[in-house]
Amino acid sequence: MRAIDWVDGHIRFLDQTLLPHEERFVDTTDVAVVAEAIRSLRIRGAPAIGVAAGFGVVVAVRTAAANGAGDIRGAALEAIDELASTRPTAVNLFYALSRMRTIVLHHPGGRSLGAALLAEARAMQDEDVAACDRIGRHGAALFNGRTRFLTHCNAGALATAGIGTAIGVITTAARQGHVERVFVDETRPLLQGARLTAWELRRAGIEAVLITDNAAGSVMRAAKVDAVIVGADRIAANGDAANKIGTYPVAVLARHHGIPFYVAAPLSTIDRALESGDAIPIEERAPEEISEWGGKRVTADGVRVFAPAFDVTPHDLITSIITDAGVLAPPYGPAIAAAFERR
Ligand code: MRU
Repeated sequence: MRAIDWVDGHIRFLDQTLLPHEERFVDTTDVAVVAEAIRSLRIRGAPAIGVAAGFGVVVAVRTAAANGAGDIRGAALEAIDELASTRPTAVNLFYALSRMRTIVLHHPGGRSLGAALLAEARAMQDEDVAACDRIGRHGAALFNGRTRFLTHCNAGALATAGIGTAIGVITTAARQGHVERVFVDETRPLLQGARLTAWELRRAGIEAVLITDNAAGSVMRAAKVDAVIVGADRIAANGDAANKIGTYPVAVLARHHGIPFYVAAPLSTIDRALESGDAIPIEERAPEEISEWGGKRVTADGVRVFAPAFDVTPHDLITSIITDAGVLAPPYGPAIAAAFERR
């Protein structure tokens, strides 16, 4: 299953807002549709957003060329700006767009620009597939026996071009007989755990136990969890990691209960320009995502809402960061620098 792909000259993506009830693929050659899909989380998960943005620039350029636009490079740069405005936290989006911008700026222009951009977008897709496989292998090697995991949000195939990051580790470990079950935080408010992770794990034949986010503490206290593993949207140079809102409290709980807390992410999720997680931009979502349930308001009129979509887990709560370049141990500053050097 590929949640985002390039098929016969168009982008094909799985509309994740409809899961698990409906598996509907959308075909498009319209960059505005891609931008809307990223904003509305039809396409979501840090690496998947990056890959989608790469293909989004391609369709914009091909449309401009087909319409006889004089300035194809201008159309590409406009598409890059439009896609960059969709979501602020996942650095994979900006990493992908910066690679596309480099192609545009070094290209003489004209019709072959589309082919050059498609080659770059496909390369990023292939790189993510390979990165996920490597993360899966490196991570699975950490687990022996029948491990009981807990995860938050969705860092699976739906969120990447490949097998996923955190979930890729779990599915790889499961093939080696090392997974007992996975506690899945439902992940308020958009339920990526309940709707997406539980669906993916079931398809993989892995026992998934859905819990509310606020049950994580008592499940850990009852000694039912051996390891927590999550993905990330942006990791700063010191190892601080932004992930779905609610990840930080899970890390605090894991520390309190002496449970290892792993972050799994490709190097493309690491933003070495940011010294610490304090500088990571945190997306705020529409208040209705919290103040409404099933389209109905659940709080009194006039109540103010604060709706951050991500939080930052400080590096000292992270046992190790599982990357495509190996498992990084603290101190993360030098470990991250060395990982980029040997890439
Ligand atoms: O808002 P979302 O659903 O895009 O948030 C996604 C996450 O928080 C994932 O854990 C993260 O992007 C890692 S995906 C491999």
